[in-house]
Amino acid sequence: MIDMNAQTHWERIYTEKASDAVSWFRPHLEKSLALIEQVAADRTASIIDMGGGESTLVDDLLARGYESITVLDISQAAIDANLRRLGAVSERVHWLTADITTVELDSSVYDVWHDRAVFHFLTSPSDRAAYVRQVARAVRHGGHVIVSTFGPEGPMKCSGLDVVRYDAESLHREFGVHFRLLESSKELHNTPFGTVQQFLYCHCRVE
Ligand SMILES: C[S@@+](CC[C@H](N)C(=O)[O-])C[C@H]1O[C@@H](n2cnc3c(N)ncnc32)[C@H](O)[C@@H]1O
Repeated sequence: MIDMNAQTHWERIYTEKASDAVSWFRPHLEKSLALIEQVAADRTASIIDMGGGESTLVDDLLARGYESITVLDISQAAIDANLRRLGAVSERVHWLTADITTVELDSSVYDVWHDRAVFHFLTSPSDRAAYVRQVARAVRHGGHVIVSTFGPEGPMKCSGLDVVRYDAESLHREFGVHFRLLESSKELHNTPFGTVQQFLYCHCRVE
């Protein structure tokens, strides 16, 4: 089941705006890519980009030889834009249009779970708990979870929606003791509109 309000919102965003005209746009997600390469040297690692939107992370992972990539997003328009941008190469990626809080993911299939700017939109405790259950189920034991949200000094809204801002401790608390926090860092993101947003990156291992 998909949350129709959320889906309608994101379909409208991706239908009305160019990929480089949204605040979260970066030509490349350098920090995400570096962290993924750090934890998954093996190119057969199974990687999911949760709420990948139209980001070029998938292009960069393909270019580096990763063979098992899944991109999930609630917006079909975003998925379609990726298919157009990548052309025939898109057939090497597993695409899922789904709501992270309700999708049925297989158990213990991913080595790396990546999320940039998605978890922070979950403002209800029940949606956050559902998200964490998904990660705990879908990522294999010993797998890596890289989640990036707005940091404590980041914006309070994004795309017109309320968000929850986190520091490393509060974000880790959402995930719980089965996730070992290995590192965290902040990134200052320059939006296409000339403003700066503070992001937090946390990297955990599933134990
Ligand atoms: C701010 S964008 C970030 C996109 C991408 N991760 C990036 O960094 O460029 C948030 C993304 O999360 C997706 N999203 C929001 N709620 C979602 C949900 N419940 N399930 C799956 N995707 C969701 C949106 O469609 C959107 O693509």
